[in-house]
Amino acid sequence: MNIKDIANLCGVSPSTVSKILHNKDEDISVETRKKVLEIIKEYQYVPYSKVLKSASPKTNIVGVLLSENIYGAQDMLYSIEKAAAENGYSIMLCNTAGDGEKTLKYYKIFESKGVDGIISVCQEQEPPEGIKIPVVRILDKKITTRKNIFADIYFDMRDAGYLAANYLLEKGHHKIACLLGKEDEGIREGYVQAYREKFVSPNEGWTFIGTEEDIASIGISKCLNEDVTAIICANVETGYVVYEKIRERGDAVPNKISVISVRDGSLSEKIYPKMTAVHIPTDEIGGYAVNVLIQMMEGRKSAHEFREKIEQNIWERSSVMSPAGHERGGKIVVVGSMNMDCMIYVNHIPTGGETVRSGNIISLPGGKGANQAVGAGKLGGLVYMIGRLGNDSDGKAIYNSLVNSGVKTDGIVFDDGIPTGKAYINVAADGESTIVIYPGANAKLNRSQVCQYEQLLEDAHYCLLTLEISEETVEYTIQSCKKKNVKVILKPSTAEKMKESLFKDIDYFVPNEKEAEQLLPDAASIEERADIFIRKGVRNVIITLGQNGCYFKNADYEGFFPACGFHPVDTTGAADAFISALAVSLSEGEDILQAIGYATYASGVTVTRQGVQPAMPDRGELSLYQEEISSFNNKLSSKKSKDSL
Ligand code: RIB
Repeated sequence: MNIKDIANLCGVSPSTVSKILHNKDEDISVETRKKVLEIIKEYQYVPYSKVLKSASPKTNIVGVLLSENIYGAQDMLYSIEKAAAENGYSIMLCNTAGDGEKTLKYYKIFESKGVDGIISVCQEQEPPEGIKIPVVRILDKKITTRKNIFADIYFDMRDAGYLAANYLLEKGHHKIACLLGKEDEGIREGYVQAYREKFVSPNEGWTFIGTEEDIASIGISKCLNEDVTAIICANVETGYVVYEKIRERGDAVPNKISVISVRDGSLSEKIYPKMTAVHIPTDEIGGYAVNVLIQMMEGRKSAHEFREKIEQNIWERSSVMSPAGHERGGKIVVVGSMNMDCMIYVNHIPTGGETVRSGNIISLPGGKGANQAVGAGKLGGLVYMIGRLGNDSDGKAIYNSLVNSGVKTDGIVFDDGIPTGKAYINVAADGESTIVIYPGANAKLNRSQVCQYEQLLEDAHYCLLTLEISEETVEYTIQSCKKKNVKVILKPSTAEKMKESLFKDIDYFVPNEKEAEQLLPDAASIEERADIFIRKGVRNVIITLGQNGCYFKNADYEGFFPACGFHPVDTTGAADAFISALAVSLSEGEDILQAIGYATYASGVTVTRQGVQPAMPDRGELSLYQEEISSFNNKLSSKKSKDSL
């Protein structure tokens, strides 16, 4: 910036400015003098003579123009500062706040301060004509009218819209909504392009453009009413509000609706389910811009060479699933117990007369029935729960956990007269556990409650039962299932004895080794016990064996199945995870051997983490093991074909 620029800005001649600067301004009016001094101050103008006297040719300062409106501005600023410092530069920061005039003014101030180079992270304004300092611009769209005097590093938000829509289309979604801000036209274009490439057009009613408030108050409901199966959100915060609205409707993400964000953020890792998002490496772009700028400042690179597009990609987390998964599975009804688990982590489990100390105690929603429902819900099953909770804070926490996992809670009763059931669980360092149960409200889950909600069994494919509720309730439910042609999967749990008449109506009987032994103490082996259960009328027997996998027998096959070998941290609920995944897989039409493979991995993942419900994998997570599950299943199928299971 020179004296002529100041004179132009003030609407006076350069000689007037010069006189004022050199205190020879007796003939100049007070107003003109005031105005000129204000502009000099505003633009921090330093006369050339002073620059010559005082400034060194290099200041080792990089000017940074930043508009907070640009996506990832904060990450980029941190990385600019870090890379500049590593290269011996300080930064001088000006926030343009989306204002073009301000931006131009700051460019001039940077020039007059003699910064060595400028990084501009804003769209509002091109750098002024004739600027002599190297400039690197970081842009969130490609500027087509570009003069080749600046280096441009850009990412295109059209790509983000395209990537998100294409990803969902490839997963089989056709009705995809878009919730965008006014500045997101590029994203909308990318979304439309992805559709066009599939030779279809999105319905206009699926896109909502407005402020964050409009999106929350009108946009989300509008899109949900269009019956879309997936929603693209402008950012993770909007996605989170979408999660809430979907939950308020009693549905879950991604079981009912998939959600993806076109802008990633740290929140995506902190919410449940973790949000899949289009990722731009904003934390690296700043450092990259500094390196380009330094090469330009040192004459090693010319601006003409530089126009670089930053690639974006999808970071898959757990908020998207194929819509086929939504409809694939038949209905599963769980009739069972719900407890608040008090997990007591100890070195070893105390024996009679022994006292041990615990360094870690946590309370988590549990109970075999609720665990099975949550496990199946997380895997995308269409799950209904029939059970009883106390009208207390534990009951509400368990209820929330079910809702958040997509479980339909129509059959749950809150009982005012009795507290929620509790389980006191000692977990040893090797992951093994023992459980003491206080049944609480579970004891009042009786045949009249099942009868009240019997219509839920109407079109069900599977009913999951455990003997952690009364045998009378189980018996009544089994009879009802039989009438309605619903297949029964039963885990005996606490039962030392079981009514003989029950066995003939059980389709899948899943005791663990100890439970099988308690029921048939005189039998000599696992194989013999399985054989006896089959002779009693059970169609399929799976005896779970912890780290040794399981033993399966039905009319056609029998044999041992290995575990998947994951290191256990807490084995509580491993069987619940196994049964829920088995039910989901069977409900989706897989055969029993495939279902055992899927269930083996679901329970394997669960035991690697503390607790039960939070430890159970969701569908997205389990799909990470798809290759291993397939090769596990292939081995089983080859055994099956050789009839040598
Ligand atoms: O299978 C594990 C479950 O058994 C625990 O969550 C506990 O509540 C008991 O029901």
